[in-house]
Amino acid sequence: MASYKLLLLPGDGIGVEVMAEVERVIDWFNRRGAVSFETESDLVGGAAYDAHGQSISDETMRRADEADAIIFGAVGGPKWDSVPYDVRPEAGLLRLRKDLKLFANLRPAVCYKALAQSSSLKTELVEGLDILILRELTGGVYFGEPKEITELGNGQKRAVDTQVYETYEIDRIARVAFELSRARQSRVTSAEKHNVMKSGVLWKEVVTQTHKDGFEDVTLDHMLADALGMQLVRRPKQFDVILTDNLFGDILSDVAAMLTGSLGMLPSASLGAPDGQTGRRKALYEPVHGSAPDIAGQGKANPLAMIASFGMALRYSFDRGAEADLVEHAVSAVLDEGYRTGDIMADGCRLVGTQEMGEAVVKAMDRLAV
Ligand code: NAD
Ligand code: IPM
Ligand code: MN
Repeated sequence: MASYKLLLLPGDGIGVEVMAEVERVIDWFNRRGAVSFETESDLVGGAAYDAHGQSISDETMRRADEADAIIFGAVGGPKWDSVPYDVRPEAGLLRLRKDLKLFANLRPAVCYKALAQSSSLKTELVEGLDILILRELTGGVYFGEPKEITELGNGQKRAVDTQVYETYEIDRIARVAFELSRARQSRVTSAEKHNVMKSGVLWKEVVTQTHKDGFEDVTLDHMLADALGMQLVRRPKQFDVILTDNLFGDILSDVAAMLTGSLGMLPSASLGAPDGQTGRRKALYEPVHGSAPDIAGQGKANPLAMIASFGMALRYSFDRGAEADLVEHAVSAVLDEGYRTGDIMADGCRLVGTQEMGEAVVKAMDRLAV
């Protein structure tokens, strides 16, 4: 039986709570599935800072490098608001993305049938919604230099963040978008701000060029990122794949999350380039949401984004489409049965906590697998 090594990094706040539920799903596969997983857990984020003064240690990075996939919860929280910038909890996640070269971040926003009424938008606008946001993850303003705050000597300070993109970075994420779109509706909308940003000018130029290099069967449109934000809440179903940079992708994916009912529903996969020899790629799977300090420690968090992120690991790291479908069908089934955490609660449904939701998913897997 195929067996894979997973590094679990629960992190902080609800990251720890939702990770416990994904472990239930992993255990299920170890008991029942045709694929099994060896897991080890480690610290990241504020938890790692508290233990050894760094938001991720070199030893944890080594383990991450060796794992077949990393399953990541969430990091951050008010407790670490005043720690030095370089060791803040979020820096651990950014190091994982950058050092492992996880440039392609897939954020699917799918509105499950049972949740169409939980969206803040009208049901008919989101019913059947299925968008894939492709966010560039290792470049742009997150990593560009200089990045600094300097004293100007007159009581004023100057803060600089730098947006940098090179041709190859745009080209490789565009290729992933075009390729993935072919298994969908073959439509890609690329978002930038070429009207005010040089990096936007290059983004549009490179995406247009890459499109001509063997992807002309895919329909490509360009949209200014602010207008795309507006269209996402006006008529979201017009989109199939949205291709965008690191910062716009961060913002637009939180917007898209609310179309699906809750931030607690959106999974993600962060993928590196396939290895030339083995074809395997480094990958990290995490929910789009954060550590949710407002509900942390109360057993209220929705674990479905975390569980669906593991579903993405089955699909993209282990080529287990049937098993990934099983996880997704189980998530859909528990929603159909009326199980709801607080963030997606609706009239006539059954309010459950994190653990009960995780248990319900595993029970649904039991039923659906026979
Ligand atoms: P957040 O995503 O943690 O929470 C935003 C809102 O959504 C909160 O009201 C929260 O209760 C709710 N929410 C989020 N996930 C939920 C879930 N699974 N179930 C139910 N409700 C959920 O964003 P924030 O409050 O802006 O950030 C809190 C901290 O998390 C910050 O330190 C931030 O940097 C960090 N963060 C980390 C990640 C990550 O680790 N990948 C992502 C985003 C934010
Ligand atoms: C996300 C988060 C991260 C980001 C933070 C925690 C660094 O918001 O994964 O969406 O900005 O990329
Ligand atoms: Mn974000």
